[in-house]
Amino acid sequence: MASSFTHFFVTLSIVSLFVCSANKQLSPNFYAATCPTLPTIVRNAMSQAVNREKRLGASILRLFFHDCFVNGCDASILLDDTATFTGEKKARPNRNSVRGFKVIDTIKTRVEHACKATVSCADILALATRDGVVLLGGPSWTVPLGRRDARRASQSAANSQLPTPFSNLSTLISMFSAKGLSARDMTVLSGGHTIGQAQCFTFRSRIYNDTKIAPNFAATRRANCPVSGGNSNLAPLDKQTPNRFDNSYYQNLVAQRGLLHSDQVLFNGGSQDALVRFYSNNDAAFSRDFAAAMVRMGNIRPLTGTNGEIRRNCRVVN
Ligand code: HEM
Ligand SMILES: *[C@@H]1O[C@H](CO)[C@@H](O)[C@H](O)[C@H]1NC(C)=O
Ligand SMILES: *[C@@H]1O[C@H](CO)[C@@H](O)[C@H](O)[C@H]1NC(C)=O
Repeated sequence: MASSFTHFFVTLSIVSLFVCSANKQLSPNFYAATCPTLPTIVRNAMSQAVNREKRLGASILRLFFHDCFVNGCDASILLDDTATFTGEKKARPNRNSVRGFKVIDTIKTRVEHACKATVSCADILALATRDGVVLLGGPSWTVPLGRRDARRASQSAANSQLPTPFSNLSTLISMFSAKGLSARDMTVLSGGHTIGQAQCFTFRSRIYNDTKIAPNFAATRRANCPVSGGNSNLAPLDKQTPNRFDNSYYQNLVAQRGLLHSDQVLFNGGSQDALVRFYSNNDAAFSRDFAAAMVRMGNIRPLTGTNGEIRRNCRVVN
């Protein structure tokens, strides 16, 4: 009896050690001594990028999401394919879709110049994401740092663990849950669709076949997304303010103007309706909850300590 109790508690503490160790070593001050200019370098580069093209703030945010959901926030998405290496860039959710890689390259070059072999690509992406959101008028948050870069990538995990725009609500909830994120986190992080653009093929079935859609909105979107052809034609995820990070995404959902099927399922008579309605009326609550959820997403399975490496070039393993 006593020994099985001891065994129980030893097991329990090992389990909790394991669960906590994921982000134990991340700290906002991780580079304070080794690369004090890091935050300024990233902010200036993001400011230049977003001034050149506002959409880049959105593109970098999506890059971070697609990195974190595949083997954790380890910059695996940044690795290029080679003759002997299959990365994540050609996975279905990423191919001809994720963008912003050159912005990360520019930042990495400047950071290497200032602090050689010190700052990971995974941390650069986390900081650049926060700065992009701020530059488009969104909330700020303190970014825990100390992630290291993967030496591997997984195209198959990128194909299977990222949600598709055709997903229903239960699939979205379970895919986020598989990453340790709640249904509430899923709904607030989907608010990232207050900025950026989507291609016709991702919302075609929504605008032609969904019933929960405002007719005039469907008509507007059909004009530039024909039944066949025009697959890559773009439409803003938030019609009102595609370059402004605000709560209008939720106002759109309440008006049945979600662009993606996976957007509108958050407000179609299911479990997330009340939260969507709440955020549609409360920009401050959305901002606050989005910032907190971004920190949680950024904590998904980072490589820390001596795991992984500090990549010299974000596109290739050292
Ligand atoms: C809930 C499940 C999600 C699905 C099914 C989904 C799906 C998509 C799709 C299909 C696009 C358009 C891609 C294209 O046409 O090339 C897109 C764009 C985007 N997504 Fe998501 N997404 C989800 C969650 C998120 C989350 C959690 C974030 C960030 C917190 C995010 C941020 C973005 C941004 C910013 C864009 C625009 C990117 C750009 O303009 O370059 N998405 N998403
Ligand atoms: C949601 O989609 C999944 C996968 O396509 C399917 O197996 C499931 O039955 C769907 N759930 C509901 C409630 O429609
Ligand atoms: C709409 O649904 C019908 C019936 O399932 C299908 O044949 C058609 O291809 C769909 N149209 C689009 C644009 O998705």
